[in-house]
Amino acid sequence: MKKLVVGNWKMHGSRASNAELLQGLVSADLTVTAPRADVVVCPPFVFLSDVAAALKGVAISVGSQDISAQAQGAFTGEVSGLMIRELGVKYAIVGHSERRSYHAESDQLVAEKAKSALSHGLVPIVCVGETLAERESSQTEVVVARQLKAVIDTLGDQLVQIVVAYEPVWAIGTGKTASPEQAQAVHALLRAQLKAAMPQAAAVPLLYGGSVKPDNAVELFAQPDIDGGLIGGAALKAADFVAIARAA
Ligand code: PGA
Repeated sequence: MKKLVVGNWKMHGSRASNAELLQGLVSADLTVTAPRADVVVCPPFVFLSDVAAALKGVAISVGSQDISAQAQGAFTGEVSGLMIRELGVKYAIVGHSERRSYHAESDQLVAEKAKSALSHGLVPIVCVGETLAERESSQTEVVVARQLKAVIDTLGDQLVQIVVAYEPVWAIGTGKTASPEQAQAVHALLRAQLKAAMPQAAAVPLLYGGSVKPDNAVELFAQPDIDGGLIGGAALKAADFVAIARAA
């Protein structure tokens, strides 16, 4: 199976810096230099249109960092899957830990967002992960299982169409990566939970995210249940992001 390497730009970028970053990715000719990776970039909403246009004809897909659970209506400030689908966007990250914690997104809301993404032809990248306090109190398994269960219960047979990203909150932007063994252990649990819900869902791609860098990507991607990465900080530097795609 090809690895999936997704760049989450978070709230970074400008038209000028995006153009430079994209130029670096396009000139790296990833289909040739990283043939074993499918690559996606997720800029802020306002840049989706520009980025999708700049990547037309290039084998790099575009994703959003969030979507509304609603299709349209009186939801000031929200952006729906219906709208971004029109721009040629293919993926939508939902349930990133920064959304869960700063915007109080519940497991159920995240599940509704995943469902909404699918209903508009987008592939949801559903993030799950425990905080440091939860890990230290041995709650990791319980927390990620609870987060994933809401999605399983809400999606039914559509479960096979999603991507899941395991992102331990304590590893995001901290420079502390989960060790390949720690990540693999959680991925194996997520795989088993998906499979128990629906045998075909064992094929759902499982990404690892949290301080993935060129120098740890090879080892992480070598784990049997790690199918790719969700990359934050390192996705903002073309050379690093390309090196991570090549690590696949
Ligand atoms: P990081 O972020 O790679 O900067 O740790 C990952 C993420 O939040 O998706």
